[in-house]
Amino acid sequence: MPNFPEPGVIFRDISPLMQDGKAYHAATDAIVDYAKNKNVEMIVGPEARGFIVGCPVAYEMNIGFAAARKKGKLPRETVSATYDLEYGTETLYLHKDSIKPGQRVLVVDDLLATGGTISATIKMVEELGGIVVGTAFLIELTDLHGRDKIKGYDTFSLMQYSGK
Ligand code: PRP
Ligand code: MG
Repeated sequence: MPNFPEPGVIFRDISPLMQDGKAYHAATDAIVDYAKNKNVEMIVGPEARGFIVGCPVAYEMNIGFAAARKKGKLPRETVSATYDLEYGTETLYLHKDSIKPGQRVLVVDDLLATGGTISATIKMVEELGGIVVGTAFLIELTDLHGRDKIKGYDTFSLMQYSGK
């Protein structure tokens, strides 16, 4: 979507893909395919769009999903991680009991841009003793070099875009 949220920016909107049942299913299957030989035991996705992508993957793999949420949403004890936005910071939280030490975790989100969101999510999983065996995205904005922030982690993106 050109000129959203501001002039000169192209917003890579996943809603048309979600609205198309076959496309949504195919995108989910692509991530499941990527994950299937990794012995994944748990999916973690950051609020909000990480839920849209991660939950159907967890369902298809018959494993659990843990939500990394924004402030004030999780009722039990949490760990947290703060990351930079263009203006200011954002903090994500994860229930302490959502990941068991040694558990193999796939971290899933819709978009890899600067890598701040995924890095914060990975940090919390690791603080709880989880092993991040992969990261998966529908879209990677290659010009923003988010991949450089998660060097050392196996990373899959279904679609890559460069340019503004
Ligand atoms: C968007 C997107 C990713 C993140 C990617 O989330 O869904 O989570 O930005 O950017 P990054 O790689 O630079 O961190 P947003 O914070 O807009 O919130 P939402 O998922 O709640 O819509
Ligand atoms: Mg998001």
